[in-house]
Amino acid sequence: MYAFFRNFYLCAKFQTMTITEILNKVGPSILQQAQDSGTEGSRTLTHEKIKLLLAAEGDDKKLLFDQALQTKLAHLDNYVHLRGLIEYSNICTKYCLYCGVRCKNLKVERYTLSDEEVIECAKLAHELGYGSVALQSGERSDKAFVDKITYLVQEIKKIDNGSLGITLSLGEQTEETYRRWFEAGAHRYLLRIEASNEDLYYKIHPHDEKHDFQQRLACIDGLLKVGYQTGTGVMVGLPFQTLDDLADDLLFFKQKDVAMVGMGPFIPHPDTPLWQYRDQIPSAEERMELTLKMIAVLRLMMPEINMVAATANQTVDPQGREKAILAGANVIMPNLTPNEFRENYLIYPDKACVKDKPDECHSCLDVRLAAIGHKVLYNAWGDSVAFTKRQKKS
Ligand code: 5AD
Ligand code: FES
Repeated sequence: MYAFFRNFYLCAKFQTMTITEILNKVGPSILQQAQDSGTEGSRTLTHEKIKLLLAAEGDDKKLLFDQALQTKLAHLDNYVHLRGLIEYSNICTKYCLYCGVRCKNLKVERYTLSDEEVIECAKLAHELGYGSVALQSGERSDKAFVDKITYLVQEIKKIDNGSLGITLSLGEQTEETYRRWFEAGAHRYLLRIEASNEDLYYKIHPHDEKHDFQQRLACIDGLLKVGYQTGTGVMVGLPFQTLDDLADDLLFFKQKDVAMVGMGPFIPHPDTPLWQYRDQIPSAEERMELTLKMIAVLRLMMPEINMVAATANQTVDPQGREKAILAGANVIMPNLTPNEFRENYLIYPDKACVKDKPDECHSCLDVRLAAIGHKVLYNAWGDSVAFTKRQKKS
């Protein structure tokens, strides 16, 4: 086992409260409180307890996953929400140290989908009953891009009188841009913080005006202010990342009270600067396992948020998506990008489903989910229950 985690686990054994005790206290109390008050439940997980849970092994680990699944089923049932993913463009003005489509990677053939291609993808999502699309792209903030996205959101909204929900994942923008896209009809936005520890952030990003931690935080605040169901998240198993960082990441999500979270294992890409650390990170199996624990612990902390079973999970482990669902995730983003473009959107290598046709993905999903006792909720936006409840209160 990766030395850091082994040492931590040994230390964890000498803590005053055992993992089982924490879970027996926290897990059922979450369910009980929620049933009693109709609220999200317990908020009692401290940094130290989170760290202990993230180090759980054997029966403790089993109990953690079990509690997380029971918590999810009690609050959200066994439904999985789908977002048809449209990878609009791999043109990016940034050069994050982990990302395969960073502008400094000259090996990538750049593309942007035509308006017609985007609308066709959205129509397909509608026909397949997905209920929502997610429009994702490399980061640009020039006027032509902002105008184009506004137009595309408006056009997607026209399909069957606004029946599709729209999630955007288009990076850092001004608050004005976020507002424009919101007014055009987008209502969810994903912007991962990637690492909530500023020092770690600058180990995985350049430290310059284009990659500014404070700016990223301001963007997340801007999204919340504009009124989006705001999603954030981190990569798990990054070089230099510690269990303290991961525990703080979970507390950060809680503190921001976000509506959605996406977390996946870090996958080193050979054409990026972080590739040099590939031998100094936990094994793929350990990164996957740690991602599942992050999902499970967060489900205990935030029972009603939407959590995505990221494609990166499936890339590291063919069963990764199902494992994430069983650990507490409730959203899947099947890729609807036309196949000829997919291999140019390789933010990490060997991405899952690159060769699958959209309708093949579709039929395989139902079967795979049924096998783990879950089902897709078709023809629904699948909004975050946490967000919807909060809105009703205000
Ligand atoms: N490994 C895993 N995830 C990655 N992402 C970017 N590069 C990688 C990588 N090498 C994630 C980031 C980003 C999301 C779209 O993909 O968290 O926000
Ligand atoms: Fe494109 Fe980071 S490399 S946003």
